[in-house]
Amino acid sequence: MRMVDIIDKKRNGGELTADEIQDFVSGVVSGEIPDYQTSAFLMATYFQDMTDAERSELTMAMMKSGDHLDLSSIDGIKADKHSTGGVGDKTSIPLAPIVAALGIPVPMISGRGLGHTGGTLDKLEAIPGYTVEISEQDFINQVQDVKCAIVGATGNIAPADKKIYALRDVTDTVDSIPLIASSIMSKKIASGTDALVIDVKTGSGAFMKTLDDSRELAHALVEIGKGVGMDCMAIISDMNQPLGNAIGNALEIKESIDILKGKGPADITDLVLTLGAHMVVMAKKAPDLKTARAMCAGTIQDGSALQKFGDMVAAQGGDRNVIDHPEIMPQAKYQIELPAKTSGVVSKVAADEMGIASMLLGGGRQKADDQLDYAVGIMMHKKIGDSVQAGESLLTIYSDREDMAEIKDLLYANIEISDTAEPLTLIHETIR
Ligand code: URA
Repeated sequence: MRMVDIIDKKRNGGELTADEIQDFVSGVVSGEIPDYQTSAFLMATYFQDMTDAERSELTMAMMKSGDHLDLSSIDGIKADKHSTGGVGDKTSIPLAPIVAALGIPVPMISGRGLGHTGGTLDKLEAIPGYTVEISEQDFINQVQDVKCAIVGATGNIAPADKKIYALRDVTDTVDSIPLIASSIMSKKIASGTDALVIDVKTGSGAFMKTLDDSRELAHALVEIGKGVGMDCMAIISDMNQPLGNAIGNALEIKESIDILKGKGPADITDLVLTLGAHMVVMAKKAPDLKTARAMCAGTIQDGSALQKFGDMVAAQGGDRNVIDHPEIMPQAKYQIELPAKTSGVVSKVAADEMGIASMLLGGGRQKADDQLDYAVGIMMHKKIGDSVQAGESLLTIYSDREDMAEIKDLLYANIEISDTAEPLTLIHETIR
């Protein structure tokens, strides 16, 4: 089958057959299809969407492009969580050790930053020594012994996604329901988890800006999971402002540790406990969400989740001293305040633009091969609904450059101060 014919069919709104999708995925992995044709196909899919059958075929073809992990040697129901991507979304980092501290195996295969959103793997690499690339056998051993591991889709897990993910990032084809659904579910099915909670983000900092699109994505993800017999559910959570206060790799690790110490911001702590409660119920360790949530909170109070985080970091080669000495992570040269120009109530903090500002500081990639600066980012001091006096700091910019004129203009243009603010809802819906 000629790739140009497959592109042509999709470009003109046709429904691809299983063989055509299979040929596309195999050609991407073998390198037979050049990046320019893959990019054209991604753009055609972006505009024409895919039917449910095509979405499932694409997911399964991407999943089968590599290994399927056999986690059967690990005792218990394996539970995982994946987010569709947000700004300041460091949820996985405290969540995995919280759930693991309750004896539930958490085999987490995470991603890197994509577009304006941060990536769990990039954040963890801010910890000196932490490696996200471990062999499949070491991953299995670590989940058995420590009960949690957060790694990249290394080895041969969904290699098609690796190539497609990198191309989507640089061809502006990220925010597409079939492409997000197949990317997430191919990795999750290949990772062999039994239960999966998907955190579908909605709002300015999410790939899906409207509740309707987020709902459609959530249904697509859950349906693909159920189709292969996975216990799968989704929540739709708000991403109209950054989650927590920290944006940037090392800053987000420090905030994750604060969450595990019971000193984290309220919004992200609430989200972590909500997601954790669903995982605990799906793993059949609690009869209901209220009990499960209290169990998760208990692991923060008794220090077992923090201990588990240290165990996971050490098992992956990282320095567990980061828990009490976050300054061992890269530190920015300059801390520059952004004072409010007027008094009032913060009514808007455009999450996507905050993510872009962090990326421009060097915390994210503008090109696929950009090296990250782990130290840089933004620390929010005021969020939607907070009162502010003129001159008070809205946020601190962590930077290795002193001249912040452009970044400051971008930030000012995307934070609004008014007389009142519409309150935000953190969790919009639950989809089973
Ligand atoms: N996470 C993924 O793994 N893939 C996407 O496309 C978006 C978020």
